[in-house]
Amino acid sequence: MSDTITVFEVGPRDGLQSLGVQVATATKIALIDALARAGLRKIEATSFVSPRWVPQMADAGDVMAGINRQQGVTYAALTPNERGLDLALAAGCDEIAIFASASEGFSHANLNCSIEESFARFAPVMQRSAEAGLPVRGYLSAVIACPYDGPTPPAQVHRWAERLLEIGCYEVSLGDTIGAGTPDTLGNVLKPLLHDIPADRLAGHFHDTNGLAGDLVVRALDLGLRTFDASVGGLGGCPYAPGAPGNIDTRKVLECAAALGFSHGVDLALLGDAEQIAMSIAAR
Ligand code: HMG
Ligand code: MG
Repeated sequence: MSDTITVFEVGPRDGLQSLGVQVATATKIALIDALARAGLRKIEATSFVSPRWVPQMADAGDVMAGINRQQGVTYAALTPNERGLDLALAAGCDEIAIFASASEGFSHANLNCSIEESFARFAPVMQRSAEAGLPVRGYLSAVIACPYDGPTPPAQVHRWAERLLEIGCYEVSLGDTIGAGTPDTLGNVLKPLLHDIPADRLAGHFHDTNGLAGDLVVRALDLGLRTFDASVGGLGGCPYAPGAPGNIDTRKVLECAAALGFSHGVDLALLGDAEQIAMSIAAR
């Protein structure tokens, strides 16, 4: 099993999307460039979603146009539908992510449709991405609990995670959207999943509500996962998950993994530059 972990940096998207005060496009670009300089190789730069739903991401095209692209860095964006795909393709994104929910309540709140309907929307996105040679990541939200429906049965996570892979996602990022997980409840979800899905096709996406996200990373590492989403400075939340705080701090993931002997390739001193920008945003 690999002794290297990958952090998928989601701060510029998940970290910023819920902020009420509009962050300047130039600041978003500076944050992304600083993350790339620090050695993050997967950066979710923005999302091409309805600006009526998420006004903070309305400048997605300008953000993509302004970044100083570094070789070897994948600049990704979230796309809920074909309209989002068109915009992501025009902006030159290196990969996109579709996002589904393991619970009906969150699907309706986040995408305004049922889970099944969301997959119907994904079908043309997957087909056209394949034609364009664009890799697609899949998010599955509410894998532990849903802010509307309560605890999520692990069988539901299993069903929809497999479906995301079947339709062509290269990886499924498992979202503990409201940070409800414990190492035990995460284990209850992961163990049956890992029967059927190789660990290298799963990622952990943990929000740090109760300060347990580091423990979830350790549990997931123990079970074989090696990719973790994280947000610089712990910025973040989801506008459709009331009370959801930031993603686990990027530095926390790197330190947890390093303490267990995993390498990560990120320069922690340079990460400090990105953290300064994140802190200046959070302080507004
Ligand atoms: P809707 O209102 O049902 O659909 O929203 P619509 O087709 O009527 O569109 C509404 C308006 O948005 C229309 O404009 C469309 O043209 C426009 P209007 O006629 O009102 O001027 N529109 C778009 N504009 C730009 N880009 C697009 C796009 N699509 C439509 N792609 C919709 C349905 C899916 C669009 C909406 O629900 C939406 O945008 N949802 C996204 C919500 C979101 O971004 N949530 C946060 C990200 S997910 C997350 O944080 C969880 C995650 O981190 C994992 C975890 O933690 O669990 C990934
Ligand atoms: Mg999230």
